[in-house]
Amino acid sequence: MDKSTIITQMRQLIQLIAQHNHAYYVMDQPEIEDSEYDQLFHQLKGLEQQYPDCVQADSPISKVGGQALSKFETVTHTVPMLSLGNVFDETELYAFARRIEERLAQQQIQYDVELKFDGLAISLWYENGVLVRGVTRGDGETGELITQNVKTIRNLPKVLYADQQAVPELLEVRGEVLMPKAGFLRLNAEQQAKGEKVFANPRNAAAGSLRQLDPEVAASRPLAFYAYGIAQCVPHHGLETMSESLDWLTGFGFAIGEKHFVCDSIAAVQQIYLEINQQRPDLSVEIDGMVIKVNNLQQQKQLGFLSREPRWATAYKFPAIAALTTVEQIDWQVGRTGTITPVARLEPVAVGGVTVSNVTLHNIGEIHRLDVRIGDTVSVYRSGDVIPKVERVWTELRKPEQIYAPVQLPSHCPVCDSPVVMPEGEALARCSGGLYCSAQRIEAIRHFVSRKAMDIEGLGDRWVESLLHLNLLDSVADIYQLSEHREQMLQIDKMGEKSLQNLLDAIEQSKKTTLGSFIYALGIRGVGESTARMLANCFQSLDALKAADIDALKRTPDVGEITAEWIYDFFKAPHNIEILDRLIAAGIHWDAPLAPSRQPLNGQSWVITGTLSQMSRDDATQALQALGARVSGSVSSKTKCLVAGEKAGSKLEKAQKLAIDIMTEAEFIAFIASHNAGQ
Ligand code: IVH
Repeated sequence: MDKSTIITQMRQLIQLIAQHNHAYYVMDQPEIEDSEYDQLFHQLKGLEQQYPDCVQADSPISKVGGQALSKFETVTHTVPMLSLGNVFDETELYAFARRIEERLAQQQIQYDVELKFDGLAISLWYENGVLVRGVTRGDGETGELITQNVKTIRNLPKVLYADQQAVPELLEVRGEVLMPKAGFLRLNAEQQAKGEKVFANPRNAAAGSLRQLDPEVAASRPLAFYAYGIAQCVPHHGLETMSESLDWLTGFGFAIGEKHFVCDSIAAVQQIYLEINQQRPDLSVEIDGMVIKVNNLQQQKQLGFLSREPRWATAYKFPAIAALTTVEQIDWQVGRTGTITPVARLEPVAVGGVTVSNVTLHNIGEIHRLDVRIGDTVSVYRSGDVIPKVERVWTELRKPEQIYAPVQLPSHCPVCDSPVVMPEGEALARCSGGLYCSAQRIEAIRHFVSRKAMDIEGLGDRWVESLLHLNLLDSVADIYQLSEHREQMLQIDKMGEKSLQNLLDAIEQSKKTTLGSFIYALGIRGVGESTARMLANCFQSLDALKAADIDALKRTPDVGEITAEWIYDFFKAPHNIEILDRLIAAGIHWDAPLAPSRQPLNGQSWVITGTLSQMSRDDATQALQALGARVSGSVSSKTKCLVAGEKAGSKLEKAQKLAIDIMTEAEFIAFIASHNAGQ
């Protein structure tokens, strides 16, 4: 190969890696599997090794390792953040205990047994009781300064106070940041509703959220902190044991694991380990084992460290919850935005108490990586105790007489038969049928009629399916033609005159909307509710948005390069334009949004808290957004004003502390009314 071809290839790889870094770290929405990302890396590395004189100055290869990302400031840990050794079974646990007993001959030994959180380790510094810095573990020696993000974690004390104990001058607390399971499921449901990528497990979700450069985004994520140790304390706390230090930390308001134990013997440790492994699905957070520590702090000191691990502690990992089963079929599912996702249909199998019969294989790249084929034996585990995944394919169990055909990406959509496309550099294949595809259509219609979109109450899934069946709903535009098909609709099971009239009335009412809701209803990839409103505010009219080029789209807050391209492509597709024209012709209309020059709250950040009695929170949010404000979930020094309803709690306190403007609901209603009167 000639030199210029090599350099072109390297440049392409560098660009792809940069693009995926952005998607992963900044947008928090990885577009490819980790394994595919590694593959890109690998390719570039290979080229660089083969052609060292072509290495590009901005190559990411030399910058990688456990190092901190360049976007956050790097900090050196005063006390290094070390790792733990592992034991995996009873024999290894006893060996761990024997090594300790030999070093502490003739001493009584107690063990402190804690949950091993599966999140991200961080260090927190408090000076005279005030949280002054938060740092990630990084490579253990240096980490990233993420104080702003850490301060958005709700259950973490920002200021220490206690009735019973003195606040130290300096306190460095170590612990783990996690996303509790309930919050993880909620976040994923929201991501899905926005048409955005869901997180594979709580750990990834927590990692992505902590690394958010925008603390407002981090604040909107349900993170929690659990303390498990003290790295420094001046003056010394004078405590004698690990379990006392945990209690002492709770005295300052730190959360610790929902369970911890002190055991007098290693046999008791083993017993606890077995019990907690059973209870694991019922815990509120993800754990991957237990941590066993010598309880006495003096004894810990005496034992010390062996290279980078303490001799006084170990992780006792749980076996992965996995089970063997066979792949009966691989189906391809079509999502709202046309993504075609392979799903393996399994012979049902119990995994950690739950029956699993379907498992997503994510994309064709993952199928090739695993080399999974119909008929294969696979081990399935529940990642994060929640989502089942294929761990590995047991190719050695393939029967010689059986044929295992490699899985191919279908060339045509299994639902509408349109060609399947897979743009270069993307991991996901898509049906190119757009709204012609009934699978995409049903999802698109569901989204279009949803409350925050066109809000057509009564057009539930059942009706939608029946209408599709009668060929009355080819696209969302047909919704507004339904009144011409009364007779046919009355044929639908359980559709009486009254329910039909209610439905048609709801459809009629939905014609009056807002530009933001309409844009959201279109279901453009990457455009959630708040992005839709931003677009409405910035572009002011549908025509201006339709005509916008990528640069103009990118200037909208919240819209990055990739989303800008998606929006651009949406408005370039002729079938989308045809549907838009029909919708407008049917009479969908809205009041023109206020011009940015007349949006009095442009650029301001507002927060709503407590219960509002006269209006819904959604309406209040919309009213603020229409005036140009951004509505955020947490109070910070940047907050312009807090609207405090009944039973306002910690946000109100915080706003008072920060001397931020506060409005009661009545004041807020008067405020909005005065602005709207002046339009
Ligand atoms: S104590 C000297 N306690 O496990 C290290 N670590 O493999 C003392 N971890 O990165 C660590 N739960 O983030 C400790 N209850 C717990 C823990 C815990 C999770 C993590 C920690 C560390 C990793 C070590």
